[in-house]
Amino acid sequence: MSKILINGGKKLNGAVRLQGAKNSVLPILAATVLIRGESVIHNCPSLSDVEAALKILRHLGAEVTRQNDSIVVNSSNLSGFTIPDELMREMRSSIVFLGAIAARMQKAVLSSPGGCELGPRPIDLHLESLSELGLHITEEGGKLNCSAENGLTGSNIHLSFPSVGATENIILAAVTAMGTTVIHGAAREPEISDLADFLNRAGANVQGAGSDTIVISGVIKLHPTEHTVIPDRIEAATYLAATAATGGKITLLGAIPAHITPVMKALETSGCEIRVNNREVSLIAPVSLKRVPVIRTLPHPGFPTDAGSPLMAMLTVAEGSSMFVENIFENRFRIVDELKRFGAKIYTNGRVAVIEGVKKLTGATVECTDLRGGAALVIAALVAQGETQIDKIFHLDRGYERLTENLTGLGALIERC
Ligand code: UD1
Repeated sequence: MSKILINGGKKLNGAVRLQGAKNSVLPILAATVLIRGESVIHNCPSLSDVEAALKILRHLGAEVTRQNDSIVVNSSNLSGFTIPDELMREMRSSIVFLGAIAARMQKAVLSSPGGCELGPRPIDLHLESLSELGLHITEEGGKLNCSAENGLTGSNIHLSFPSVGATENIILAAVTAMGTTVIHGAAREPEISDLADFLNRAGANVQGAGSDTIVISGVIKLHPTEHTVIPDRIEAATYLAATAATGGKITLLGAIPAHITPVMKALETSGCEIRVNNREVSLIAPVSLKRVPVIRTLPHPGFPTDAGSPLMAMLTVAEGSSMFVENIFENRFRIVDELKRFGAKIYTNGRVAVIEGVKKLTGATVECTDLRGGAALVIAALVAQGETQIDKIFHLDRGYERLTENLTGLGALIERC
């Protein structure tokens, strides 16, 4: 099954229960490396990135079982410390295993993750920070050889940019290090807090997650635990943008509204009515969408870069011109050329994109360039008149569980073939 066909023009209408957050479950799975015993993790979405993380755990010697959306990892007999090249390539965020493997095994050998579809995505902040905790790292022939014969030691770390992955790697390396680690300038994303909650349940002492200063007091060992992953805020943003673009109505079930505040604000600016009721968020689209003068992607609590492409697709059919300023990943706008195939009018210059709203889009044959860009194509296709074929949908499988089923349930004419 390698493509999606969509017959556009139907208003989405109904309810969707959100999946567990992809960007939470991956570092939490990496964290299970630290626990000698069982970690039971609920609300794990069925995604190719999650499968890639499970392959790494099995390769390291953990026992992994899955029943529906619950994954049980038993790392009692884990003895591996290498991640082979093919597994590193399968998922760039495999780098988040480095801190956990180094802490558990006092050594790690990983191939250096190359570029990805969003640009070079360097790991200098990860490596510098782990070095400060006492990890000795050398790079040879594309391999990172890491060792900390006497274990890791807490330190004061100042991040020059609040990198999500680097913050996670430091936390994972520091929870069982000797002494206290303080991360200044830490990432504040909800997924960082979810990782800290999981680790604290397992006996770690991580304070301040969600703020820019995180204090990790090292403990001797972690114990078996059980945890439920937070809902996926980017999946939430995607369904909200899709519904707004088609002029429909939706209720998201199991949402955490505070995680999507900047996205809801942008949608309200575009004329959508948003109602929040505990763990439900509803959206009613206006008759015609208004422009959003400017959206700047920023680290949390700013507008998330991952929600940029879906909202850009929505704004292609808003009245007037909207602007995006992408501050996180340089290659986000690769999807623009594909969106233009639908008749969208988008002009880019470096990190800035101007979207001139058009009255209608027309179905096209397009291909995903990256995960969230793929979601933008699905949204454009749902709006467009006529049939769209979307190729390279393996990108979508990295981050969206039950995409075609959910959209069919909302009234879309969509099939995977
Ligand atoms: C994570 C998310 C991704 C999200 C991003 C920003 C996961 C699996 N992925 O990615 O979906 O889009 O956060 O919210 O959770 N940087 C450096 N050096 C480093 C690390 C990062 O220069 O060592 C730069 C990157 O090139 C980029 C920026 O920092 O420009 C953000 O990267 P980071 O926050 O680390 O994102 P990821 O953890 O890769």
